[in-house]
Amino acid sequence: MQPFGLLDHRSHELVLGVPGSGKTHHARARLASARRVVFFDPTGHDYVDEGEQVSPADLDRELLSGTVVRLVVVPGDDVPADFAATVAACRASDGGVVLCADEVGDYAPHCADVLTRLHRNGHHDGVVSVLVSQCAIDIPKTCRRTATRVTSLLQTASADLDALETEYGPEFRERVARWRPGDPPAVWTLPTLRHHHRKEAPCRS
Ligand SMILES: Nc1ncnc2c1ncn2[C@@H]1O[C@H](COP(=O)(O)OP(=O)(O)OP(=O)(O)O)[C@@H](O)[C@H]1O
Ligand SMILES: [Mg+2]
Repeated sequence: MQPFGLLDHRSHELVLGVPGSGKTHHARARLASARRVVFFDPTGHDYVDEGEQVSPADLDRELLSGTVVRLVVVPGDDVPADFAATVAACRASDGGVVLCADEVGDYAPHCADVLTRLHRNGHHDGVVSVLVSQCAIDIPKTCRRTATRVTSLLQTASADLDALETEYGPEFRERVARWRPGDPPAVWTLPTLRHHHRKEAPCRS
């Protein structure tokens, strides 16, 4: 089992789509083979099957250093504070952790700095991420810009589609706008990651 499953040690992924389009289903499937995952679940019911429910204060290094970790953080009344505490605990761990944050639009306006730093630097602390949101524009712009992989089901609002086109190009926008239930998700992957893999090929000079 790879530490990050289908993700790698620098992944910061986004999962987007209108309500009911299948974001949570996709995020869970994508993380099924990751070894240490913390799910931040404001609904309190989307990830009940994934593992033990804990509060952010429970997330100490020992709990996060297990061989297989599947923890579900259900925030209390102050969702932004609990999200910030969850990110801080993951970053203070020994690493190898995927943080999956669902319903990001609920707390992103109060957590833009936390989310931005998570994308910029989280992987240096061994924390990679999956941010799940109904609307592309609810994801801070820097996070959209630094995403390594974007999976989108349907987006309909022109502001969201414009944001997708800006960062990921017109073809991705079109696939997202045309998406219908039963279609595979539209997926965009950071092109430089593919260049990077090529560079890692054995050097024969
Ligand atoms: N690819 C799929 N195959 C089978 N069932 C799916 C698939 N995608 C979604 N579903 C089902 O459709 C329903 C809605 O999916 P899901 O909860 O993942 O949507 P969502 O985009 O997260 O919605 P919300 O915005 O309300 O959180 C769920 O019952 C889920 O199990
Ligand atoms: Mg959902």
